[in-house]
Amino acid sequence: MLSVGLLGAGRIGQVHAVNIAGHTGSRLAAVSDVHEPAAQALADRFGASVATSDAILSDPNIDAVLIATSTDTHADLIEAATAAGKAVLCEKPVDLSLQRARACQATVASTGKPVMVGFNRRFDPNFSALQAAVAAREIGKPELLSITSFDPAPPPLAYVKVSGGLFRDMMIHDFDMANFIMGQAPVCVSAIASSIVDPQIGEAGDVDTAVVTLTYGDGRIAVIKNSRRAVYGYDQRVELLGSDGLLQAQNMLENTVVKSTTAGVTGAKPTYFFLERYMPAYAAEWSAFVAAAKSGSTPPVSLDDGVAALAMAEAAFQSWQTGGAVALSAV
Ligand SMILES: NC(=O)c1ccc[n+]([C@@H]2O[C@H](COP(=O)([O-])OP(=O)(O)OC[C@H]3O[C@@H](n4cnc5c(N)ncnc54)[C@H](O)[C@@H]3O)[C@@H](O)[C@H]2O)c1
Repeated sequence: MLSVGLLGAGRIGQVHAVNIAGHTGSRLAAVSDVHEPAAQALADRFGASVATSDAILSDPNIDAVLIATSTDTHADLIEAATAAGKAVLCEKPVDLSLQRARACQATVASTGKPVMVGFNRRFDPNFSALQAAVAAREIGKPELLSITSFDPAPPPLAYVKVSGGLFRDMMIHDFDMANFIMGQAPVCVSAIASSIVDPQIGEAGDVDTAVVTLTYGDGRIAVIKNSRRAVYGYDQRVELLGSDGLLQAQNMLENTVVKSTTAGVTGAKPTYFFLERYMPAYAAEWSAFVAAAKSGSTPPVSLDDGVAALAMAEAAFQSWQTGGAVALSAV
């Protein structure tokens, strides 16, 4: 039984607590949060204790920690947790600074302790089936990847101001998805972006609508489209054209009823947002972490994957700022 300390009892910490406590191979031992009532409420729900992050990291009875705190704490907590000998699953992104994330990567490498980064979409049943079909060469050589990722509505402006921006906070999932499906990083990143949904997002220095093109050394191309507003729900689709065919992963819908009448053919909307769409993915992600931590095998998503996606976000940001393509080797 893997004894787990959860750091951060906010929005995503609460999702992870359910999976930690619900898994037959793990138990939620302790919860920490700088906002103590949040830690207490979550600990009470699952019969865990409340402790500081330091106390959790120095507790010899705790085997693993899940870091679900605010982004600006991730790199410090990853370093402290691996130095304390814990197995670590940390939410994305590793940091908002690529330089800080790379320093963390180097520090952790010297401990030899595995760190898994929370790119939960790799565990979505649709996207993992698509990737498995690519790996099995079912459509031949991949040539053109298209990732659509639209949120239903923009986050509060206060969140936008501290989020690190659309490329590092939101599109980072899509950069990792491109790496997952294409099996390697691109050589070049080009971005165009605007704040057409809400000019206040632009005034805060961010964008809400963006298209990024990734080009690969062998001529393959990927296109990522992000928007902070899709009025019909959470739009999460992937399409890959290969030399022998096409793969498409469609949206999950609220239900499967299709109504056909003289007025036309209609169906349900996509599920509302990530908590509805990706619940099975978070559970599968946790199962994969438990399996790796117990067997001592390499986790399926690494700290290197986290840094690789952040480097693409940095390149996209620079491309948007300068208006030119940015070589990934230059960031
Ligand atoms: N993978 C995903 O789909 C996904 C979804 C949402 C959020 N996230 C990531 O998870 C992280 C948390 O996001 P959230 O939406 O849950 O935020 P949140 O603000 O709801 O929760 C973060 C919690 O961490 C606590 N905290 C901050 N610093 C701390 C520290 N040093 N020690 C202990 N607790 C601390 C805060 O008090 C807060 O309760 C972010 O990095 C975010 O990017 C990932």
